Amino acid sequence: MQVAAASDLATAGADVVGVATANDAPAVLGDLQGPVSELLRGEAFRADAGAATLLQLDGKRIAVAGLGEEIDADAFRSAAAAVARLLHSIGGSLAWLMDDSQPLAADEQARAVVDGIVLGGYDPGRWKSTGERWEAVERLVLVGSEEVAEAAREHATVAAWANRARDLANEPPNELTPQRMAEHAEEIASGLEHLSAESWGPDRLAELGMGAFGAVGQGSHNPPRLIVLRYEPPDARDDVVLGLVGKTVTFDTGGISIKPALYMEDMKGDMAGGGAVLAGIAAIAELELPLRALAVLGATENMPGGGSYKPGDILRAMNGKTIEVVNTDAEGRLVLADVLWYARTEGATHIVDFATLTGVMNRALGDLYTGVFGNDDAWRDQVVAAGNRAGDHAWPWPMHRRYRRLIDSTFADMKNQSIRGQASPVYAAEFLKEFAGDGPWAHIDMAGPGFLRWARPDYFPHAGGTGYGVRLIAELARSLA
Ligand code: BES
Ligand code: MN
Ligand code: ZN
Repeated sequence: MQVAAASDLATAGADVVGVATANDAPAVLGDLQGPVSELLRGEAFRADAGAATLLQLDGKRIAVAGLGEEIDADAFRSAAAAVARLLHSIGGSLAWLMDDSQPLAADEQARAVVDGIVLGGYDPGRWKSTGERWEAVERLVLVGSEEVAEAAREHATVAAWANRARDLANEPPNELTPQRMAEHAEEIASGLEHLSAESWGPDRLAELGMGAFGAVGQGSHNPPRLIVLRYEPPDARDDVVLGLVGKTVTFDTGGISIKPALYMEDMKGDMAGGGAVLAGIAAIAELELPLRALAVLGATENMPGGGSYKPGDILRAMNGKTIEVVNTDAEGRLVLADVLWYARTEGATHIVDFATLTGVMNRALGDLYTGVFGNDDAWRDQVVAAGNRAGDHAWPWPMHRRYRRLIDSTFADMKNQSIRGQASPVYAAEFLKEFAGDGPWAHIDMAGPGFLRWARPDYFPHAGGTGYGVRLIAELARSLA
C-alpha cells in the first residue's frame, strides 16, 4: 500500500473518505459533519469498536468506523480494519481524516490506521481456485497530518512484511517444507540490499554437532534445514548484533508422542516464529536501519516414523550439554537449543527468540498476549516495551533458578520436559536458558497470538497466521539502531 499525505480533503483526491468516531459524526468532517450525522442517525449507527458503515453523499463515499469506548491504538486499528473490510470489494484509494480531538497523538493514530488497514485487509484465501487476491486499499492519503506521513510509510512497510509472515504461516505443510522455507529466505534476501541468506542440510548439522535439532528432523522424509540470514549495512554501529532466532517446525505431529487429531492442522503454524524472524529481518533491511542483524531459523518437521527419535533417547547439543528426551512433542526447545547456541557463536550480542512453544501459554494468555522470558531483566523489558508500542502485545514472565531442578535428569544433564503438570512455559524457558550463552537473551512464547485457531474481533478477522513478532522486531531494531 502506498501512503501519502494531504492538507485537506479537497486535495486528497481519493475514492473513499474514512473516519473513526466514538459517537456521532466528528467535527473533522467539516461541511460534511451535519449531513453525515443525519445519515448515521437514519441507519441507527452505533460507534462500537469494529462497526463500520459506507455512506453515499452527493456522489462521495464516506466510510465511518466506530472506536468503541476505550480509545487507544488498538481501537484505531480495529476501526481502520473495519473500513478495509468494507472496501475489499471496491479497492482503490482511501483518504483518512486524522482527528486532533481524539486522545491519541497524530503519529500514533497514523500508525494504528496503517496497521489496521494493511493487517485487517489481508486475504488468507490464496489457495482458492477462484479469483485473484488484491489489496483492499492500494493508496492511503492521511488528511491533515503531513508530518507523520514518512513514519506512516515505514509502518506500512513493516505491516506488509507482517502479512508476508502470515502467508508463510498459512502456507500448507505439503508446500512449506524446510527446503521451501529456505527457498523463501533466499528469494527474500535476493531482493534486499545488504541482506544475505544461506542454508544447510543434515550433514552440516551433524558436522556442527547439532544433535538436538538434528534429532527432531530424523523421522521425516523432508530433511531439516538450518537457515541463516545476515543483514550487514555499511553504516551500522559495531558493538551490537541483534540475534533473531525462530522455531521453524513446518509441521508438528508430536512425533512418537503423537498429538490428538483435533486441530492438528493448526500445527502448520508451528513455524510462525521462524516466519516472523525471516520477515522481521527483511523489514529491518527494507527500512535500511543502521544495525547489524543475524536471523537463525531451525526448520524441520516433527514426524513419527521408523527413523524418529524416541522417548528415552539422549541427545548431545552443539554446546556439549546432554538431554534426555521424555516427550518427542517438546521438540521446539530441542531445535532452539542448537540454533540459539549457533546464533551466539556467530556473534549475536543481543538475542531474542520467537517460538510457538507451549500449549499452556495459549491457555494462560489466550490469543492476545505473548509471554516473554529472559536472562536479563533490562533486555526482556526492552523487548516487551517494543512489542507493546508496535501492537504486538507482550507480557513479562518470571524465571528463577529453583525451577531448574524439575528438568533434572537421572541420566543426562537435563530432560526436555518436566513430568509435573506445572508451569510448562517456565520450564521450557529454563531449558532454553542453558543454550543462550552469555549476554542478554529473551524468549517469546507466542503459542497464543502466533497462529489463531479462531478469528479475533479486532483486526484479525480470519483464523491462521498473524505475523506476530514482525512489528516487534522492527520496533526493537529501531530502538537499538
Ligand atoms: N507446538 C507445540 C505448542 C503449541 C500447542 C503451540 C498448541 C500452539 C498451539 C509444542 O511443540 C508442543 O507440543 N508443546 C508441548 C510441550 C509439552 C510436551 C511439554 C505442549 O504444549 O503440550
Ligand atoms: Mn510439539
Ligand atoms: Zn511444536
